[in-house]
Amino acid sequence: MNPSPMNPEKIIQLATGGWRSAILGAASEFSLFQHLEGEGTTAAALKGKLPISDRGLQALLDGLVGIGLVEKLGDKYKNSPEASAFLIEGKPGYLGGFARVNLMDLKRWGEFSKVVKTGAPIDENTSDLPENEYWEFLVTAIAPLSIPLAQMAGEHLGIAKAGEVSWLDIGGGSGVYSAFWLKMNPRAQAYQLDWANVNAIAKKYLATFGVQDRFHPLDGDFHKTDFGEAKYDFAIYSHIAHMESPATNIETFRKLKKALKPGGTLLLSDFILNDDRSGHPFVLNFYAMMLLHSKEGATYREADYRAWLTEAGFKNISLMPTVTPASMIFAS
Ligand SMILES: C[S@@+](CC[C@H](N)C(=O)[O-])C[C@H]1O[C@@H](n2cnc3c(N)ncnc32)[C@H](O)[C@@H]1O
Repeated sequence: MNPSPMNPEKIIQLATGGWRSAILGAASEFSLFQHLEGEGTTAAALKGKLPISDRGLQALLDGLVGIGLVEKLGDKYKNSPEASAFLIEGKPGYLGGFARVNLMDLKRWGEFSKVVKTGAPIDENTSDLPENEYWEFLVTAIAPLSIPLAQMAGEHLGIAKAGEVSWLDIGGGSGVYSAFWLKMNPRAQAYQLDWANVNAIAKKYLATFGVQDRFHPLDGDFHKTDFGEAKYDFAIYSHIAHMESPATNIETFRKLKKALKPGGTLLLSDFILNDDRSGHPFVLNFYAMMLLHSKEGATYREADYRAWLTEAGFKNISLMPTVTPASMIFAS
């Protein structure tokens, strides 16, 4: 028998990927990274400070060193620069919530073979349901991922100097775009159409920016709500298209085109594949996430968006890559 000349390391790492998600999610849940800032600390000194067992503590510390988020210097454990930047609660780029949402999701991934077989999510509690508690966890967790995009789009559209403008954010979630854009422009007004339970979260998020007075939540289902006519200067459709079918995307783009003033611009942000279905690894993996969570969602190509937007009446369509796996499309 010939031994395989290939190194199996990559397959072993991939097959055990859920372990790493779980270690990161649990460490975030127990705020372990808060204790490992600065000079760091020893395992002995951490005992009793967190509501976890001694075995659990050592397993997390070893695991975090294993995945490169914690450095070990002698007896001391301290955060890596990435853990320090993204896993400390209160910092603007905090992604511990995102790690926890992904830990919660691991149970569902256990059923993924069945989902692949049927092409439909197993759990009734999918992202298509109204007022779903899932969104309450998710929107806060993913807000930091959209911060660089909100800033970049705001600059691209000249929001700061646009004067008395308004926009409609469809499924705005945490309200991250409105928060940054209202802060940039003190004369602007923001409208966000989302479920009532999510809009309540957005209102609190906007209050942390001191701009909640110019934020107007519209509670309801965007499939069933009329957006009005020639009302807004801008519209936002961020991380929505991937959970919709092509037909419902076109329908919403039509409603948005009508709701925009002449010359108004729609900003769409999503995980967009190249036309030959190549792309960023995160974007390529994202279809699996949509299969798990939605009845009709998918990862779409730039050509799909261009065709749908054109069908809905948009004429000037341009794509802008970003520093994240998401791309932005501006259409007017
Ligand atoms: C993936 S999150 C995106 C949040 C935000 N736009 C962002 O980019 O961070 C999807 C959002 O759409 C909202 N949503 C989903 N289906 C909806 C519907 N039919 N009507 C209104 N809002 C909906 C959810 O509540 C959630 O806030």
